[in-house]
Amino acid sequence: MCGIVGYLGSGDAYPVLIEGLKQLEYRGYDSAGVALVGSDGRLNVYKEKGKVADLENYTADKDKSGHLGIAHTRWATHGEPCAKNAHPHVSSSGRFAMVHNGIIENYAVIRENLEKKGYEFKSSTDTEVLVQLIDYIASRDNADTVIALQSALREVVGAYAIALVDKEHPDCLYAARKSSPLVIGMKDTDFYLASDVNPIAAYTDKVVYLEDGEIAYMHYGDKLRIVNLSNAECCHEVMTVPKNLGKAGKDGFGHYMLKEIYEQPDCIRDCMRGRVNPEARTVTLSAVHDHRDRLLSADRFIIVACGTSWHAGLIGKQLFEDLCQIPTEVAYASEFRYCNPVIRSTDVVIAISQSGETADTLAAIELARSRGAFVYGICNAVGASIPRATDTGSYIHVGPEIGVASTKAFTGQVTVLAMIALDLAKEKHTIDDERYAAMIEELAVIPDKMKEVLKSDGKIASLSKIFTYARNFIYLGRGYSYPVALEGALKLKEISYIHAEGYPAAEMKHGPIALIDEEMPVVIIAPKNALYGKILSNVQEIKARKGRVIAIVTEGDDVISRIADTCMEIPRTMECFDPLLSTIPLQLLAYHIAVCKGKDVDRPRNLAKSVTVE
Ligand code: M6R
Repeated sequence: MCGIVGYLGSGDAYPVLIEGLKQLEYRGYDSAGVALVGSDGRLNVYKEKGKVADLENYTADKDKSGHLGIAHTRWATHGEPCAKNAHPHVSSSGRFAMVHNGIIENYAVIRENLEKKGYEFKSSTDTEVLVQLIDYIASRDNADTVIALQSALREVVGAYAIALVDKEHPDCLYAARKSSPLVIGMKDTDFYLASDVNPIAAYTDKVVYLEDGEIAYMHYGDKLRIVNLSNAECCHEVMTVPKNLGKAGKDGFGHYMLKEIYEQPDCIRDCMRGRVNPEARTVTLSAVHDHRDRLLSADRFIIVACGTSWHAGLIGKQLFEDLCQIPTEVAYASEFRYCNPVIRSTDVVIAISQSGETADTLAAIELARSRGAFVYGICNAVGASIPRATDTGSYIHVGPEIGVASTKAFTGQVTVLAMIALDLAKEKHTIDDERYAAMIEELAVIPDKMKEVLKSDGKIASLSKIFTYARNFIYLGRGYSYPVALEGALKLKEISYIHAEGYPAAEMKHGPIALIDEEMPVVIIAPKNALYGKILSNVQEIKARKGRVIAIVTEGDDVISRIADTCMEIPRTMECFDPLLSTIPLQLLAYHIAVCKGKDVDRPRNLAKSVTVE
């Protein structure tokens, strides 16, 4: 995680760096720092514990001049969050300053060797070890900065995206990457560097994505030069960034999370635009069309993802098996990559990720491709590492998601999975024409039904006040609603810090039912579908043990709604689309409980939006 920004150009570096950090704060926010180099080689480094705003306050009366600079917003891996461990780190000689995103796994050995050579360390970070190593090699070999950087990077094991300044070269900016993203923007003589394209998009639409094992050398007045660790030149296509990227504001909402919950009807419409045609009653995804034979001949689908994206994957499994009769497995990417899974060249691996940068998902993709599987990515962030590492894919097109708790990306992922399943089912003839047409008609009206669900926000806000006492919650669902239960529990945990568990409702009696008493809130997702009668029995079991039932029911429900303590209604839809509606009240419930408890909803403790480390 961690966000990196760099600038070298004709303007002042500081405003570009601070604005960039604000846009990358979703990647980490426990401390922030900036290094500015004056044309005379003066190096000013400012660091502060806390958020970018704290750094801004701290630097208010400081010298912020310089046309070259690097900056960082941190999510701690090695060393507690404090100013001392914040980046940039400066080498002992004071010559180099560096920011880093990733983990240097062999830092302890390198640090010990350098300490023997007299190097002193100010922090407990792995990053300081790397900048000291660069300094050591540069002075030992009297080496040029790029050569010293190459030698140092050949010695380190791990993942990194780094930006480096050398006060002996106040007109140069250096960057390198391995397994952590870096984008370089170019406009006239100016260079912009960032962990994702958003901080750059405000200045230029011409960008280059650095690849693993590459070093970028930016010299004022010259063209961008990229070399690998053996100093061979690397050629890159300059890409044009889509115009709709850039700053996302809260648009009057108190938090990004609430704004993103409310955006879902529009986002899902955007997600379906040009793909679902309700008049012709067709759904077409270009990736499915282009790779039709490969997808149709697959023996098996394997979905890999993490967190919320994994929950979307569980719904994907049901869709692919139900509609397409394709055996589908769902794996946590972090487990898949290390369990020596059976992967055959006839398998299709579907990688789901909002950010497109999740380290475990990227590693799972690499593993799948190395075993000959065809990899299909489902991603939100345009141009991120995952869409570039996969054979093909579909964007969910829900726009930037800033709130750490994923909301609109989840419904976007489920929508794309539903579209892929429908498109393939039609091609495979596992769905009859009537059902196919009816499902497309229904999918097309889901955004309107989402709007209906959002009308219950006020009721959910009032209800939330009652439950701030709770220290535990249980979420129950069956079939398509089981992943929704998991997702609802995750939302509550991550932003309110209340412990919550999601279960398949019928599993309760095999153990967890022992937890039920009059204190325990139990959220039951019980839309009117084939499993309604079954879940009704589960509600009775909870009520018989005095649990407090909050039920998500289909409008007009007059059975569970009478037994439950509280109900939230969603419009009627087809069973496989229920998650697109029933998730929304759970997002709102988690949001309002967290707000009532005074939590930092958009930046929950210990989390970061993009998990680019293992
Ligand atoms: O960017 P990704 O979808 O790959 O991220 C996966 C998880 O880190 C993410 O979904 C996480 O669980 C969210 N904070 C959940 O709200």
